[in-house]
Order: sequence, then C-alpha cells, then structure tokens
Amino acid sequence: MSYLLLSRESGVAVVQFNRPEVLNALNMKLMAELVDSLEALDKDDEIRCIVLTGNEKAFAAGADIKEMADASAVEMVKRDQFARWDRIRKIKKPIIAAVSGFALGGGCELMMTCDIVIASETAKIGQPEINIGVMPGAGGTQRLTRAVGKVKAMEMVLTGSTVSADEALRWGLVNKVVPVESYLQEAKNLAREIASKPPVAVRLAKEAILKSFDTTVEGGLEFERKSFYLLFASEDQKEGMKAFMEKRKPEWRGK
Ligand code: CAA
Repeated sequence: MSYLLLSRESGVAVVQFNRPEVLNALNMKLMAELVDSLEALDKDDEIRCIVLTGNEKAFAAGADIKEMADASAVEMVKRDQFARWDRIRKIKKPIIAAVSGFALGGGCELMMTCDIVIASETAKIGQPEINIGVMPGAGGTQRLTRAVGKVKAMEMVLTGSTVSADEALRWGLVNKVVPVESYLQEAKNLAREIASKPPVAVRLAKEAILKSFDTTVEGGLEFERKSFYLLFASEDQKEGMKAFMEKRKPEWRGK
C-alpha cells in the first residue's frame, strides 16, 4: 500500500490515509487502495470494526484537484472515478471515521459514508467544490441533505463554507467532539466496544439502518422484522438470551 497505513488490534482495523504532503487529497490510486482494503477487511473474520482516519491536520481535503483539473467531460465519464466509492457503501462491518482538521469535498463525503464519526475539536467540515467551479460529486448533495436537512445543505454547498466541529455536532454530522489529542483513541475505544458485540447482529443492524435511506418506512420495517427473526438462527442469539437469564456475561462466537 503506498497511500494507506494499516494496523490491527483486538478485532479493530485502523486504516489511515498517508498523503500528508497534500492534506490526504484523494487521488484515484488512494481510493482504489482504500476500497480494496475495506473489502479485504470486510471478509476478514478477525476484524469486527474498522476505523478510518487521516492525521491531525487533515482527514482529507477532497478529491485530488490536480488529477482532475485538465480532464474533459468525456474523460471524467470514462474514468467514472466516483463509481468506485459506491463499493464503500456495501461494506458490512461498521466503519468509524476519526476526523481531525480538514474534511472537505470528497473528504466530507467519505466521512458521511462512514457509520459513526468522532471528530476532534479542530475539525473543519464542508463541501467547497463551488469555489473551484464544480459541485459535490461523490454523494455530498444526497448524504449531506439527509444528515442536516435542505436549508443547511443548501448553505454549505452553495457557499462552500466550512463548519466547525461544534456546529457539525449540533447539526448531526458527527457523533462526538473531543480534544485533538484523543480523537483517534476515542474512535478506537468505540470500535473496540462494537467489536465486542455479537457480529452477526451488528451486521444485520447496520444493514437495516442503511436500508432506511433507500426504502419506504413499510419496506424498512419489513426488512428489520425479517432480520430480527433471522437472528434466531444464530448461536449468538441463543447464547445472549441464555446468558441474560443465567445472569452471566455472554460469550459471542460470531455464528
Ligand atoms: N487536491 C490536490 N491537492 C490538494 C488538495 C486537493 N483537494 N487540497 C490541498 N492540496 C495540496 C495543495 O495544493 C498544497 O500542495 P503544494 O504544497 O504542492 O502546493 C498542499 O496540499 C497543502 O495545501 P495548502 O498549501 O493549500 O494548505 P492550506 O493550509 O493553506 O489550505 C485548504 C488548506 C483550505 C484545505 C486548501 O488546501 C484547499 O482549499 N484545498 C482544496 C479543498 C477543496 O476544494 N476540496 C474539494 C476538492 S473537489 C472534490 O472533492 C469533488 C468531490 O465531490 C469528490
């Protein structure tokens, strides 16, 4: 991997962007490596939760402008570089974004593709594409609108202004804001907590929550109910309920 650093510990994988000289600008090679790594971790039975992070100065300052600047529309269509990003949405394991500094453009879009966001108090989040003559192209108009509502999404996308970590917290874009010294550790702690839960239930619960973005309430409720019933085929359901009745800690087997 040339643009990513990977580490793993106690069921948690940490994937870190490693292009600090350009504030982790997301070029096509980095994104290809990222998607391949996430898919490999998704298949790895030892990993139960993934943390995605950058460095203190930048989570990611967006898609790589220098890589796109001279492209024609036809080249952009042929490259279809953002299609690859859809594969991230298909990752079944929870992904926690640990965000410090800039999360702009594609960086903000990637952050919003993650399931949970822990931000440092230095985070600066926004969709500044309008300032370089374009608009969000990797989910910003859709995910931001669902996260913060129409009027705030309009303000952010049409002015390109950034929001602080505290504003992002108030607007429901991030789960928690912590000092810059501890944002990664907080994200790892949360990941470890999720990694200690029964993996099949975690997987189906994540899938059901994401379903709510693509379906009617009725369809979503149906999906949720079927997923709930399906968990009764797992050993972890028998163990979890038995352990509750026997007043002991459950031992999850991931089956
Ligand atoms: N692409 C390519 N290079 C980038 C970059 C990006 N998105 N963001 C920063 N860099 C590079 C800079 O060119 C600079 O490189 P050089 O040293 O070779 O000049 C280096 O990173 C450091 O950046 P700055 O000197 O600009 O640092 P700063 O602290 O003065 O400013 C910043 C930081 C405000 C984030 C500024 O770099 C900036 O505005 N970056 C661009 C943000 C942006 O417009 N993002 C959207 C990209 S388009 C997109 O993402 C489309 C989509 O929907 C997916």
